[in-house]
Formats: sequence, C-alpha cells, structure tokens
Amino acid sequence: MTYLPSVKASDFYTKVTDRKHSRSLHGTQETLHRPAGVLLPITLCPRMRALLRLQTYTVAIALSSLISVTLIFYTFSSGGGGSGIQGGSLFSNYRRINHLEHAVETLKSKLSEAEAYEKELLVKIEDLQEQANSEHASTIQVRGIEERSGWEGVGDSPDNAPGHNANQRQQQIYSCRHTDIIKVGRTIGQGHTKVVQEGTLLGRKVAVKSAGMQVKSVKDCLEKGIYHKKEDCLILAMYKVLKEAMILRQVRHPHIVNLIGLCARSENGSPNIKERGITLVVELGTPVHLHELVEDTWAKRVKYCMEIGRLLQFLEDSPMGSTAISDFRDEQFVIVDGALKLSDVDDLSSTEPDCDENMQCLVNGKSAVKCSSNMKCGGLNASLNLFHAYEVFIGPLLSRDVPPSLDTAAKRLLKSLQKGELDAEGMVYRLKNLQSIP
Ligand SMILES: Nc1ncnc2c1ncn2[C@@H]1O[C@H](COP(=O)(O)OP(=O)(O)O)[C@@H](O)[C@H]1O
Ligand SMILES: [Mg+2]
Repeated sequence: MTYLPSVKASDFYTKVTDRKHSRSLHGTQETLHRPAGVLLPITLCPRMRALLRLQTYTVAIALSSLISVTLIFYTFSSGGGGSGIQGGSLFSNYRRINHLEHAVETLKSKLSEAEAYEKELLVKIEDLQEQANSEHASTIQVRGIEERSGWEGVGDSPDNAPGHNANQRQQQIYSCRHTDIIKVGRTIGQGHTKVVQEGTLLGRKVAVKSAGMQVKSVKDCLEKGIYHKKEDCLILAMYKVLKEAMILRQVRHPHIVNLIGLCARSENGSPNIKERGITLVVELGTPVHLHELVEDTWAKRVKYCMEIGRLLQFLEDSPMGSTAISDFRDEQFVIVDGALKLSDVDDLSSTEPDCDENMQCLVNGKSAVKCSSNMKCGGLNASLNLFHAYEVFIGPLLSRDVPPSLDTAAKRLLKSLQKGELDAEGMVYRLKNLQSIP
C-alpha cells in the first residue's frame, strides 16, 4: 500500500522522519516516495522546520491579500460594487466625482446670484407700482405742491429726485428693504463722523453714509471719557447720521445732495449693510477740493459761485428757517453732474444765536446784525453763510486769472462781500454780470 502524507502536519513530519529511518533499513524503497525528496531541507533541523512553517503561512496570507486587493481594484475599475458609476478606471471616476462636485458648487453660486437678482427685480416692480400709484394720486389730488416745496424762486428744479413734486419725493425715500440690496463698493470718504462708501442700488450709483467706529468723533468721545464703551460713542455718531437724514428731508434743493434712502434698524455698527444700525443713502458725487476748482476755467468758477449763491439764497428762508452752514468747508461739498452740492448737512442749524446787545452778533469780528427784541441775532445765520462762502469759495475762485475786462467788477464784488454789504440775492445778481466776458 502506497503511503499518503496527508493527515495532520505534525504527523507528516514524524512520518518523513520514520521513512528516512526505514530507507536506511530497506535501501530501494526511496524512489517510490517523491515528496520525501521535496521536503528534504526540512529534515535539516527543527528550527528550520518551524521557520518554513512560518514562511508558508506568511506566503499564504500575502497571496490571499493580493487576491483581495486585485478583486477590490477590479470591482471598482469595472464600475461594480454598487457604486452606480459606470465604466472608466478608479482614477477617472475620482476625477469625474471632483468635476461633478465643482459643477454643483458653480450651480449653487449661480442660483444664489439669480435669487438676489430676482429679489432686486421684485423690489423694482414694487417701486414702479408705487410710483405709478402716487403719480396717479398726485394728478388727482395734489396741485401746486411744487410752489410750497421750499425751493421756489431759485430758478432750478431737482430733476434727479425720484418723483416730480415734494409730496412724491417724500414718499420715495427708500427704506431698509432697498438699502439691504445695495451692492457696497469702496470707501470714498471719511469725515469727522461719517464713513462714505460707493454703492449700487437698482443699477444707480449712490453714496452710502454711516457711522464708523474708526471716525474721529468716536475716538474723541472715548478720549474725553464722554462714554467708556466704543459702542456707546458710536451711538452719538449715529445720531449725526440720523440728523443728516432728517435735515435732508426738509431741505431739498438742486444744490444739496438728494436724499435717496434711510434705513434705521438698531444701534449696532456693522460692516455688513444688512446688519448696520443706521444707513443713509444720498446721490453720489465727486468730493470737492478747492485747489482743483481754482484751476478751472473762469466760466466754471463763476458758475460754482452762482451755485453757492443760490444755495445761500435758499437757506436764508428754508423750510427749517434761516439756516447756517456751521461747518463751512470745501470738503462738505461734492460735484454731481457738474453742479456743486452741499453733502454734509449734519451741522446745519436754524437757531439764530442768543444776544443781549448788538456787539454779540458778530461776523468777522464786526457787529453784523442787530440784537432783536427776542434776544436773538436775527439774520446772523445768513450773514455768517455769506462771509464763509466768500472766504472758502468766492474769494479764492474769483481772485486769480480774472479776464481783464471783468477785473474791476470782480474786485468790487469781493470787497462788498468782505464788508458784509451784500445778501445772497445781491451776490447772485452781481455774479451774473461776471458770467460772460465782454
Ligand atoms: N454724496 C457724496 N458723494 C461722494 N462723496 C461724498 C459724498 N458725501 C460725502 N462724501 C465724501 O465723504 C467725506 C465725509 O462725508 P461727510 O458727510 O462730510 O462726513 P462728516 O460729517 O463726517 O464730515 C466728504 O468729505 C466727502 O469727501
Ligand atoms: Mg464733513
């Protein structure tokens, strides 16, 4: 009977050893048992045998791992495994997933843009409906409001206001719903209290004014210890923005920037316009720098002076009363479509100074008006405006490169203004004579 080296591994080695032993006894039987020849090195020593056993297991494990990896690779690369992705290699599918993820992101951002645009269009539609309604209403009810709107007699009309009369313009001041959709751009100015940014509202460029933590008035408030918290000081600055909005509502004039919107929602400051406490929106202009204006042509310089004159004429008898530009500087003005306009109105005041005697009603160190029976320097606001206008604009603009034929008239005008001999109407009248060069 042929010997079968199966059964248990431990028996196997025992039997090989036995066979070796029997060979030495029977000589020729060896050729019939080939496995003994293959296992010959195992017979060398038990240590080697144990090593070989270990190696056999290692090889078996390695082989099975290799087969598993190959199977997994095959499964993925052939699109199996229930992944649902058909065809291509593992890497091309990975690239495809990446590509799809990117496409999803792009679609998401396009969707949010489309939603914003939809919102903008809905607001536009509502505006047009509102405008149509108010136009209809005003045609029926309101006649002659223009004459009571506070800028009569000036000769111009605010053509860039949302409506065509004071009543409509009052209704057309945009609120938070609109300011929320303003696309805010770069900062174009910063004054004592306000930060001014460029913005786009319903396709129109606007100036967005708000109080900022970094402005001088907030810093001063902290330094002087008026309040200890920055947030509290910011409220003071916000008050100025609100005051500006309220004043702009009352004084509408071609040479005062037009109020477009106001959003008052909280006391919080925020870079995000949707969370900003107070946002004021006015028409956008170019900041005025006197040193640039003086370089303009004579005709343009006279035109600027006329515009200042008309503004002062209006302020002498504005809906607020006789109003002074308390902080009269070139930086408070902007140029809109070539016209000079007052932009900073938070320092306007229509309270005439108190007095006991004439000597308290001073302009340039000289008594300018009488102390009236109600103990007020009646008319001082208008006189102060004229003097400041002379110092800030009229003097510098009309003193250089004067056409020789107008030199005498220009000098006479400047002297009269310096002496306080003219009111705004008289100044405008005299300026008309300087317009055209004979
Ligand atoms: N409507 C506007 N268009 C363009 N720039 C403006 C406008 N209003 C103000 N600015 C610029 O911003 C600066 C600060 O605005 P302003 O209203 O004067 O603030 P503050 O009250 O702090 O002085 C101005 O000096 C001007 O340069
Ligand atoms: Mg200012």
